[in-house]
Amino acid sequence: MRIDHIEARSILDTRGKPTVETTLDAQQGSTLNPNPQGRTLLRATASVPSGKSTGSYEACELRDSDGSVARAIENVNGEIANALIDHDFNSLDELDSFLINLDGTPDKSRLGANAILSVSIAAMRLSAMLEDIPPWKSIAKRAGTTSSAPRLFVNVMNGGAHAHTPILASREARPEGTMPNLVSGHADFKLPFQEYLLVVEGKTSAAFPIAQELFAKLGERLGDGTPMGDEGGYAPIFETLEQPFEILTELIKEFPNVKIAIDAAASELFKNGAYELLGKSYSPDELTNVYQGLASQFPIHSIEDPFTENAGDDFARLTASLDNNILIIGDDLTVTSPARIKDAAKNKEINAVLIKPNQIGTVKEALEAVQATYTAGFKAVASHRSGETMDTFIADFAYGIGAHGLKAGGFGQRERIVKYERLLAIEREAETV
Ligand code: PGA
Ligand code: ZN
Repeated sequence: MRIDHIEARSILDTRGKPTVETTLDAQQGSTLNPNPQGRTLLRATASVPSGKSTGSYEACELRDSDGSVARAIENVNGEIANALIDHDFNSLDELDSFLINLDGTPDKSRLGANAILSVSIAAMRLSAMLEDIPPWKSIAKRAGTTSSAPRLFVNVMNGGAHAHTPILASREARPEGTMPNLVSGHADFKLPFQEYLLVVEGKTSAAFPIAQELFAKLGERLGDGTPMGDEGGYAPIFETLEQPFEILTELIKEFPNVKIAIDAAASELFKNGAYELLGKSYSPDELTNVYQGLASQFPIHSIEDPFTENAGDDFARLTASLDNNILIIGDDLTVTSPARIKDAAKNKEINAVLIKPNQIGTVKEALEAVQATYTAGFKAVASHRSGETMDTFIADFAYGIGAHGLKAGGFGQRERIVKYERLLAIEREAETV
């Protein structure tokens, strides 16, 4: 494959924060991009998401002190474009390795994982276009995986770091003619874990309408005016740890294919050697008891990041103590790093892995992380980030690798919905390709 034009720009994510979008062009019909039908210009664009509760072992998102991504964009338009344009690549893996070597740091901090990933994803799309196959098929071929529809992991209630979004003061509350002030919408915020998800099994065309019905019913149950969190789910206030689980259990009682998942994102709860939940402090053993109690009372499918990213031994104890059907998912613990996933496997710390391509910075390495996950006998759950764009690559990725699930947020934001809609389109494509 040969790329002949690269252009990156800044776009805004769901939080209104700048992120990188890159467009690549190639001429189909040249000897390196062969096409018997003649020469045509092919163009592929990709944008990258951004996390808020990021793990400290993640690849480096290059962000300037003013919050912009100007340097990352300069790196794509300058150094990366100069090195890539008119260079012949025999495979996408070769192109990704070239980007990794060009950066030269272990965490992609020189050129930026955001800069590099935008090019890596756009190149993957361009290559699929050149081959005239959908991106999910290109991923499955490259990874040697059997593609299939992932379970939908729909984040219906947002808490923790994802529920502190400031909201605009209402028009009534401010003097005539003044600009709205940013006020904290959630001073009394009391939803302890970061994500409460519904996991819906089955083909997307069957699962998506069920998820929509449950999301709407939950909205009615919580009442008008319930604030929304960063990932397009509701952000209500609760007084007890059990309350959100009671509400969700009641909601799904007539739906045998639906279960509850949480992402505790416990690195965010960890203060001075203990975990803080609803104003109370828990030791790792006490928190283990909390999870065991919740798993015995409620239909829990999975618990993500139950402990902080350095507490592998606590992960291992919890995993061993629960029914093997309950997934303990590593996110900040494993950060889509093949090496960290192998470590977690050796110590039996988890039985499932969250795969977020922007934690590692290239599609190639994200697929190596999937390989390490499957080799360990673990399940893979592909995931978006809390700051998202309209890019739907993650849906193709999830379907292509035959992921156990896709975590793409709640239905309060279009950037989340398009990922589920892309899965629907893939299901239709899969019948014809
Ligand atoms: P983040 O959260 O994108 O803010 O890191 C998502 C998650 O923890 O799974
Ligand atoms: Zn997480």
